[in-house]
Amino acid sequence: MTTNPYAAPIVDWYATHQRDLPWRRPDAGPWAVLVSEIMLQQTPVARVLPVYHEWLARWPSPADLAKEPAGEAVRMWGRLGYPRRALNLHRIAQAVVERHGGRVPDDHGRLLELPGVGSYTAAAVASFAFGGRHSVLDTNVRRVLARLVSGEEFPPKATTSAERRLADSLLPDEDAPTWGVAVMELGALVCTARSPRCADCPVAERCAWRLAGKPGYDGPPRRG
Ligand code: ADE
Repeated sequence: MTTNPYAAPIVDWYATHQRDLPWRRPDAGPWAVLVSEIMLQQTPVARVLPVYHEWLARWPSPADLAKEPAGEAVRMWGRLGYPRRALNLHRIAQAVVERHGGRVPDDHGRLLELPGVGSYTAAAVASFAFGGRHSVLDTNVRRVLARLVSGEEFPPKATTSAERRLADSLLPDEDAPTWGVAVMELGALVCTARSPRCADCPVAERCAWRLAGKPGYDGPPRRG
């Protein structure tokens, strides 16, 4: 049994505050989730949205992309930045066709074997697309857990095994994917890096960082 005192308030907050994002809808299949996660790795949601829609309209399945020249993927990628990700998605599509009969695998280990898929993306796809029980440690989640549980303003530069253990210890037995995406959304909308809005936070009264007086924090960035 996992007891996670943060799960109920954060999941309840998510139910009423989440953004309506296409890759979170129930009809987004594993390919759409995988495409979104790779696009979102280094690019903000608002810039990802138009390319995400165009990409999936043109290549609704890995097989559709796999038969195109790689240059078409790079062209469609446009200005999302880090265009190596377009090439990786093209190679992923080919690997999915060659090794997995055209279906994105549901298993974390198999996902990790795909070109350019690291532990974050493998966990995100296994969790969000297939309902798997995996810790999804992106920068937002890492910052929320650092503050809420460890009382530190920011997590270490690279993900540590202590962070993984902490995140794993908080995974609820039921509906781990919703917990994961809810923490991610809390980090994106409320527990932001530079201007955390603690007054709007569903777990402010138990946040170790806030209770310690927000060490390291010197207020929102000044303008002007
Ligand atoms: N929902 C699921 N994964 C996401 C991500 N990486 N960024 C924003 N929203 C998401």
